[in-house]
Amino acid sequence: MTQKDQKPKILVAREIFPDLLAQLEQVADVQSNQDDLIWSAEDLKAAMADKDAAIVTGGERIDADIIAASPNLKIVSNIAVGYNNFDMPAFKARQVMATNTPDVLTETTADFGFTLLMATARRLTESEHWLRAGQWKKFSICDTPLAMDIHHSTLGIMGMGRIGQAIARRALGFGMKVRYYNRSRLSPELEKECGATYVDRETLLKESDHIILVMPYTPENHHLFGEKELNMMKPTATVVNIARGGIVDELALAKALKEKKIFAAGIDVFEGEPTVRPELLALDNIVLAPHIASATEKTRRAMIELAIKNCLTGLAGKTPPNLLS
Ligand code: DGY
Repeated sequence: MTQKDQKPKILVAREIFPDLLAQLEQVADVQSNQDDLIWSAEDLKAAMADKDAAIVTGGERIDADIIAASPNLKIVSNIAVGYNNFDMPAFKARQVMATNTPDVLTETTADFGFTLLMATARRLTESEHWLRAGQWKKFSICDTPLAMDIHHSTLGIMGMGRIGQAIARRALGFGMKVRYYNRSRLSPELEKECGATYVDRETLLKESDHIILVMPYTPENHHLFGEKELNMMKPTATVVNIARGGIVDELALAKALKEKKIFAAGIDVFEGEPTVRPELLALDNIVLAPHIASATEKTRRAMIELAIKNCLTGLAGKTPPNLLS
């Protein structure tokens, strides 16, 4: 057996920073999609077929079919905290390990949640388009895009995990009243630290000035935020989604924005991304971002490093730091 044969075979399904790839190549026989080509499920299946491990992103769906076609597969390491791209029962059935990258992206993602919230409420992109279109003819008190306040308003956070809590801490600095809804209630200590009050979903929807969605995507919360929920919101309220596209019924959202049933929306994640519905693109009262909540160089680097660590730890026969149950 050659030295190369003894190294584990790892697929890196998307481009990663070259220095991190070079480090991985010292200990593994790596096939990497450094050209960041868009692979079909069949391409991915073929690339994974002879691998011991794969490092993937939320864009790669790892299902029973792919797992069945990869007889040597021991671990799949996601470069993401969300793992709705993993068919977890299929992993369990074949005893393939699955890992994600929590914690390292919490603060960066919370920063972006707040950025999008502020841009949405203050009509930032719409104002910029207005300026670029030459509509800024004079200083005007009223004839300018007028917005909604953030400070001292009520923020409703749906999904109070690590990122939701980090957003709540930021909101306190703006004097906001923070309400949250979550599957399970936080401890009284954590509620106090986050300055957050637990409310039911209906109260959150009806009483919030701004709502931010941060919960994980599961089949149960598919289109959890639809016409009924939008109708409960104040006409002056905004909604921001940094969770997963499938949580929001995008056609219902587009209709509510068009009919001014709510004030505005900020969306970083889409159901069919990277395709964005024309109904959303046609609107002014929406801020759109290309799934960038964790996208700072430092954080993306930390996510890749953690994904590699999870992968190599699992391949070494130990429990990876972020093993998913
Ligand atoms: C995550 O980590 O889940 C982000 O959405 C990036 O995919």
